[in-house]
Amino acid sequence: MKKICIVGTGYVGLPLAAGFANVGNEVTCLDLDEAKITDLKNGKIPIYEPGLEDLIKRNQKNFNFTTDVQQSIQNNDIIFICVGTPSCTDGSADLQYVLSVAESIGKYMNSCKIVVDKSTVPIGTADLVEETIKKQLLERKVHHNFHVVSNPEFMREGCAVEDVLHPDRVVIGTNDIPTGLTLKRLYEPFVLNGNPIIITDVRSAEMIKYASNCFLATKISFINEMANICEKVGANILEVRKGMAADHRIGDKFLYASIAWGGSCFGKDCNALLNISRNISEESLIVNATIQTNESRPKRFVDTMLSYLLPDQVTIWGTAFKPETDDIRDSASIKVIKLLLEHGIKVNVHDPMALENTKKIFGDNISYCESQYESLLKSDCLLLCTEWSVYRMPNWGLMKKLMFQHYIFDGRNQYDLKTVQEQGFNYISIGREPIKI
Ligand code: UGA
Repeated sequence: MKKICIVGTGYVGLPLAAGFANVGNEVTCLDLDEAKITDLKNGKIPIYEPGLEDLIKRNQKNFNFTTDVQQSIQNNDIIFICVGTPSCTDGSADLQYVLSVAESIGKYMNSCKIVVDKSTVPIGTADLVEETIKKQLLERKVHHNFHVVSNPEFMREGCAVEDVLHPDRVVIGTNDIPTGLTLKRLYEPFVLNGNPIIITDVRSAEMIKYASNCFLATKISFINEMANICEKVGANILEVRKGMAADHRIGDKFLYASIAWGGSCFGKDCNALLNISRNISEESLIVNATIQTNESRPKRFVDTMLSYLLPDQVTIWGTAFKPETDDIRDSASIKVIKLLLEHGIKVNVHDPMALENTKKIFGDNISYCESQYESLLKSDCLLLCTEWSVYRMPNWGLMKKLMFQHYIFDGRNQYDLKTVQEQGFNYISIGREPIKI
């Protein structure tokens, strides 16, 4: 059993805390947001993440939720920094929250600590965290040992609990062998299946995170460009994917062509790595192209729709950046809605989990529907933006009755071409022949 403090109770901190508590550790969740901590104390989880609420409830006795910075730092041996690192205007990561945690650690620590950077941070941040803590200790005229570790997270939203409990790999970046072993022991219960715990130097660990996310984003931008070509040459991107994926060197993961990739990670991390590469005169042309390709896609999707019809009213299915989350950060769907409003088109939206967050952006400018079918009433077309499973086998007959015109623009290739043709819909998907009735 270890005494762990997790700073930041967001999409990273909470699943991680739940995972550690579940294997018997004592976990303090620290956040400055009083309302969030009160909710957590009352069993209310501030984010939607499948399995999270249950895991926290089951391990309630191992949790302490608090806003008390001093106690949290003094009472725990290992401190995980899981706060946000939003993008600055130039694309670089804003480190103010990470460094403010480091400052508090230096201000209050009273014994040896292991400080773990879990937030995604630029290469060299562990050194900055170390300097910040040292500066505080110097001001206090005290000496305490501490080690700063880079331990990037690889959780996907929507399956973060699963990713914490059964990670593909754990990366521990440290220059201190005993610290590496302490963290290795902490993670061993999660890799009983033999998945690797990679202990490496701090800067390589920091770089692994950026390289991994940028590579995954590049795979999707690549397949999206292939889809553009398929549309022009009459090929089918799903067939192309199948043929490519049969080569083990390529694999079948992250090769689904889509409206665009989104979320709080890929865009932020691609921009941060691009910024880092430019600052050292080693600009990554590939990462730059990955971003450009992705940014062009929501407009391409809307332009495609406008090349078929100028609708009065459109229905959007899905505003979350992917299924199984209420997160709409950098969601392609949100960008599409903004473009539709610029064209003066009325918008109805449905999403099983993200309507509340969507309301915070659009207020009364669009209509929010609790039922996916109600959202279709009098619409000229449906734009499917997020592949929630509830959209997979729709009631075609009912859709036909509710809609004014029968157009579906599918940003996630959810439907079989023959099926939609038989149902009598105009169907335009990504990288496949359009169906016209
Ligand atoms: C991503 C990484 O997958 C995680 O490993 C990483 O830990 C996380 O970022 C992070 O840095 O915190 P996440 O952003 O939650 O996870 O979501 P993904 O499943 O990677 O999806 C990102 C976007 O790509 C979504 O909009 C999704 O719809 C899109 N996507 C994914 C595609 O368009 N095609 C695909 O084949 C796969």
